[in-house]
Amino acid sequence: MNKVIISAKKVERIYSNGIVRTYALKDVSVDIQQGEFVAIMGPSGSGKSTLLHQLGLLDNPTNGSILIDGEDVVQLSDDTRTRFRLEKLGYVFQSYNLIPELTALENVYITPMARGMPEEEYTAKAKEMLTKVGLGDRMDHYPSELSGGQQQRVSIARALVNKPKILFADEPTANLDSDSSADTIRLFRQLNKEIGQTIVMVTHEENEGKQADRIIWIKDGIIDKAKK
Ligand SMILES: Nc1ncnc2c1ncn2[C@@H]1O[C@H](COP(=O)(O)OP(=O)(O)OP(=O)(O)O)[C@@H](O)[C@H]1O
Ligand SMILES: [Mg+2]
Repeated sequence: MNKVIISAKKVERIYSNGIVRTYALKDVSVDIQQGEFVAIMGPSGSGKSTLLHQLGLLDNPTNGSILIDGEDVVQLSDDTRTRFRLEKLGYVFQSYNLIPELTALENVYITPMARGMPEEEYTAKAKEMLTKVGLGDRMDHYPSELSGGQQQRVSIARALVNKPKILFADEPTANLDSDSSADTIRLFRQLNKEIGQTIVMVTHEENEGKQADRIIWIKDGIIDKAKK
């Protein structure tokens, strides 16, 4: 059974810096199904990150509507949006954004801990996720004691510890060598298959895009239908 988890209609994002207006997104409409692994691809500056930020509630569109899990997220108050983001969405970026003073395990459980989950529960969940991403034997390592690929896997475990409805990733392999990049995409594919994780990933690597269920091509702020 298919269920649309993200429905974006006529989304526009105009950046205004003084007198300069940049039409980063013009009239973009996309539907993403629950359980889909989607790649967003297109040339540099075409609007990929901007689109990801709109769909992931990291930014607000200038015009248009976005429904996530049936909720009209553009209309939410700032507080409600923040809560929605924390409860339902997870993020992975090209810089892993780990806290250097914390071990892998602590980096993963810090959010559920801060949200008041009991210690036994957040420790168990963090261990489970680190094991799932293949770092069961590295939990007590600090980020500086891990390779780039391993650090990215910690950040993926951190994004998933809360079981988000959607995982957003913006060029997650941009700082990785080709082996670690392939491992990361394989991990996404596996998480998508095993736990039905919905994933929306920006990439500029065509071989990575091909491993997703579908590629959404963007060019000059619009969907590039010619590239279907
Ligand atoms: N905060 C901002 N203020 C003004 N213009 C911006 C801002 N962020 C992005 N832009 C512009 O919007 C357009 C789309 O940018 P975006 O970052 O979405 O591109 P991208 O496809 O992710 O590119 P890349 O592959 O290089 O990451 C670009 O022309 C960019 O210069
Ligand atoms: Mg980008």
